[in-house]
Amino acid sequence: MSVFKGTDSQTHFLKHYQKQRIVYICCMEEKYFAHPTAVIDEGCTIGEGCKIWHFSHIMEGAVLGEKCNIGQNVVISPGVTLGKNCKVQNNVSVYTGVICADDVFLGPSCVFTNVVNPRSAVSRKDSYRRTMVGKGATIGANATIVCGHNIGEYAFIGAGAVITKDVLPYALVVGNPARQIGWMSERGCRLLFKKEKGGDMIAVCPETGQRYKLYNKMVYRLEE
Ligand SMILES: CC(C)(COP(=O)(O)OP(=O)(O)OC[C@H]1O[C@@H](n2cnc3c(N)ncnc32)[C@H](O)[C@@H]1OP(=O)(O)O)[C@@H](O)C(=O)NCCC(=O)NCCS
Repeated sequence: MSVFKGTDSQTHFLKHYQKQRIVYICCMEEKYFAHPTAVIDEGCTIGEGCKIWHFSHIMEGAVLGEKCNIGQNVVISPGVTLGKNCKVQNNVSVYTGVICADDVFLGPSCVFTNVVNPRSAVSRKDSYRRTMVGKGATIGANATIVCGHNIGEYAFIGAGAVITKDVLPYALVVGNPARQIGWMSERGCRLLFKKEKGGDMIAVCPETGQRYKLYNKMVYRLEE
């Protein structure tokens, strides 16, 4: 027998909380958490420690690595793969054709595409283009990725950018169409390259002290 006495809204909250706990406990057996409003289709794979928040939909054949955080109102379409520890912010649709490596950050309301020339009256389900997002990359809020372009490891796409070309590893790009304005460390800090005595172009991440080399218009992290 319930001993809870409160207002209607408190009772509603308690019922909602209890429902949430039941779903949480159920998902503990699955070793992930899904909010009661989330829709998890059969035939998807969800890694241990994932969290899936309000009104999000994980579709058949999608694969989520361990410890991914899927925000509110997110769709992960069939065949999409997310690596470990990816963070998908609110209102992102990750369409078939997108593959994200580990530690990818998809900012709020960023937009993927998978058909380059869509027409409502023409089916192009067999011509989806692939978009690969490299390990540790960040896609800023409201950015748009025109399909068929790859985002390199640790690349950083500024808020609102429109990607129409491949993005190099560690590159920082902004604008529409996106242009490279610099380089970012694995930690997400700007890299400022200076010529050292031997002639090498070297930058040091201000937060981690990790060293990076610019060589042939590409950036490489130097081993410690
Ligand atoms: C790209 C970004 C990392 C740059 O940050 P920063 O290194 O501090 O750069 P600054 O603010 O000094 O800006 C440098 C120049 O780039 C421009 N710029 C910065 N961000 C831009 C963007 N997203 N789009 C277009 N131009 C941008 C600035 O206007 C400035 O131009 P100027 O030199 O002509 O004045 C940041 O602006 C950004 O977009 N972060 C993403 C935030 C986000 O989406 N978070 C999601 C989770 S909440």
